[in-house]
Amino acid sequence: MPVLVTLDTNQPGEEVALEMKAYPGSKMLDQLKANNRAWAEGKVADDTAFFSRHENHQSPEYLWIGCSDSRVPANEIVGLAPGELFVHRNVANQAPPSDINYRSVLQYAVTELKVKHILVVGHYGCGGVAASLQDGLSGPVDQWIDPIREVYKQHRADLDKVEDEKERLNRLCELNVMRQVQNVASDKYVRDAWEHGQEINVHGWVYNLGDGLVTDLDVTVSHSS
Ligand code: CO
Repeated sequence: MPVLVTLDTNQPGEEVALEMKAYPGSKMLDQLKANNRAWAEGKVADDTAFFSRHENHQSPEYLWIGCSDSRVPANEIVGLAPGELFVHRNVANQAPPSDINYRSVLQYAVTELKVKHILVVGHYGCGGVAASLQDGLSGPVDQWIDPIREVYKQHRADLDKVEDEKERLNRLCELNVMRQVQNVASDKYVRDAWEHGQEINVHGWVYNLGDGLVTDLDVTVSHSS
């Protein structure tokens, strides 16, 4: 049965009509569906309890805050299975105190899941970080990456000394990670948890698209002082 809806868009005064329905016999995304069945069957063949073990609860020890970039698949990079890594990803791995999405994930990870480690993971060659240095952007993404421009301004003297453009961008990727580590470590839920003796370590990592390796930036925050 098709579902017909008319909705307001995010443009004032504009409406959009949507029809939601099944497309019988269509081949839409059949390859992905086949991949999914093969994946699920393979997991159960190796380990019969693979899915049932976590069906009713999760207790991951890690929260990953990373970039949405398709080349940075969180679980794969660190070899963790479903149930082992709580994940939040957005453009340029931001952790802005004003973002209700990121803060909901952080709140849940800290107060309910009680993760022990929060990994802020940037990556070299980040398009979001690069875009912050260019003019001509508009819309939500322009607003979203604005905090990176602040990071650039703060470190402008050092960054401008780096002559190679790629190297300068990569340094800004690292500085962006450090800034987000500071944001996470100064969040109310994290500070409250520390005050109550909960163990949480906030780490800053950067991932190299070229060789698949992460570098620990050694900026871990383990308590507030
Ligand atoms: Co990126």
